[in-house]
Amino acid sequence: MSDSSLSFDVIIVGSGAAGLGLALSLPEHLSIAVLSKLNLSEGATFYAQGGISAVLDEIDSLGAHQKDTIKAGAGLCHEDIVELVVSKGKESIDWLMANNVKFSTHGDTHSAKKLHLTKEGGHSHRRVVHAEDSTGRAVQVALNDQVVAKGNIQIFEHHHVIDLITDNNGLSGQRRVVGCYVLNTKKDRIFSLKAPCVTLATGGASKVYLYTSNPDVSTGDGIAMAWRAGCRVANMEFMQFHPTCLYHPKAKSFLISEAVRGEGGLLLLPNGQRFMPAFDKRAELAPRDVVARAIDHEMKRLGIDSVFLDISHLSRPFIQSHFPMLYRKCLDFGFDMTKEPLPVVPAAHYTCGGIMTDRNGLTDIEGLYAIGETAFTGLHGANRMASNSILECLVFAKQASKHITQYLKHPASLPSLLPWDESKVINSDEAIVVSHNWVELRQFMWDYVGIVRTTKRLQRAKNRITLLNKEIEEYYANYHVTSDFLELRNLAHTAELIIDSALKRKESGGLHYTRDYLALNDKAFKKDTILTPSRQ
Ligand code: FAD
Ligand code: SIN
Repeated sequence: MSDSSLSFDVIIVGSGAAGLGLALSLPEHLSIAVLSKLNLSEGATFYAQGGISAVLDEIDSLGAHQKDTIKAGAGLCHEDIVELVVSKGKESIDWLMANNVKFSTHGDTHSAKKLHLTKEGGHSHRRVVHAEDSTGRAVQVALNDQVVAKGNIQIFEHHHVIDLITDNNGLSGQRRVVGCYVLNTKKDRIFSLKAPCVTLATGGASKVYLYTSNPDVSTGDGIAMAWRAGCRVANMEFMQFHPTCLYHPKAKSFLISEAVRGEGGLLLLPNGQRFMPAFDKRAELAPRDVVARAIDHEMKRLGIDSVFLDISHLSRPFIQSHFPMLYRKCLDFGFDMTKEPLPVVPAAHYTCGGIMTDRNGLTDIEGLYAIGETAFTGLHGANRMASNSILECLVFAKQASKHITQYLKHPASLPSLLPWDESKVINSDEAIVVSHNWVELRQFMWDYVGIVRTTKRLQRAKNRITLLNKEIEEYYANYHVTSDFLELRNLAHTAELIIDSALKRKESGGLHYTRDYLALNDKAFKKDTILTPSRQ
């Protein structure tokens, strides 16, 4: 059989902090493909605002960072992983600065000693390193520059990975990855890529909800692909809602950073009254699950469209220098945050669960790694603490790079890959099925699987997703695939994993809050919800 697949040592699916962190950490003798669905920058990383947590202040400690992470995660975090990640905070910041990321400082220099540290919910100390209020942009742009300059890295922008290719010829007959099928969305052409190592760095799945802070690419593709290939996933019920997205008809997904509350911003009802102190003694700086639930409660109790976030009591120069991007963007939407409160609502923000990996980012399949938001490492438990995510991306990029380098010291022979078979499909004349199901899915996930859940609502969602998935699989079997359709399929598969996990957990804790099981059985709660695919 002729095999026209392009071959690499390592394929990295995703070009955010996790994907580019890995590409830049692997040795230069390896040939690497980096793929992204749109351009290199378009992922959650670029939009990160608050910053990256790291213990840098003398009065802070690794122990305190670990304790805060575990407390925010409602005790469900894996303590060995928390220790690993927290211990690499300073090293990760140093690595970013060595790669030309410029962080905000107290003075004119960018030396580690003078980095300005901000605060966010759940953190007992100032430990969030940031680049004003556009940390993600600073990280993404600097890493893009490094990656394009490398001769061993080939970049495939506008390439959508459809599925993984596996066989059973791994060590001792284990399932192993050998490549993937890719849709070139500019040329509408499908081809295969071959490699003994594939890393999924595809980000989260928050687009499964109608309202989200995430960019359009966050459609759970990695989770869905890994599940279809036979990997276990864990803790998918813990979808995080960020408490404060701007409430404005034209402000699609616009987040108002938690650092605004970290620097003194207050949450108010329409009559100007504060409400958070009644819910938690940490008030506006309680972890996100607590704040989002309190806002949801007040909005439903009072029948209001939003609550308000007010930092106008601080000086104009302070606000303009700490939050220049937010200040400008809010002005574009007609709000002057130096003078008035901003209307805010919660929106889906972060996927705490994901593809199960070990401490090297390795999944259940030989040669297949998952890092960044798509992975479940055990760090976040039932609720991720603010600014721990980019840190996790960087730490697991490094861990995986070491493991992959070792693995590739024993070269495996790979098979010829079967070409993508389009002999039985036709062009769709029913694109309405895709757009209708897209809206329906995200609406019922918001209504039935949102911040407050009940078993009845989850069962309604389960009935709907079963029907939807049947329709989607029929469509997949009969029509040429498009990027929109592939995203819908991945969202629907991921939604089913979220619903199944939520139905399995019979306690409320962290981000999973169900009115039918309010009592917390601590022993039962402290078990991960693990789903195993039938293919294993
Ligand atoms: P992403 O950066 O999302 O990158 C995913 C990549 O995968 C993209 O390149 C995408 O094109 C690609 N991809 C996906 N599917 C496919 C496919 N099928 N084929 C090819 N390519 C694919 N975290 C913090 O720690 N601090 C913060 O201050 C912070 N602020 C945030 C603010 C906002 C508005 C948002 C949305 C998130 C924020 N987070 C923050 C969370 C954090 O940004 C993300 O968790 C993290 O950046 C995820 O990085 P990643 O590399 O895993 O994925
Ligand atoms: C924010 O700036 O509020 C987002 C921080 C995060 O999600 O970690």
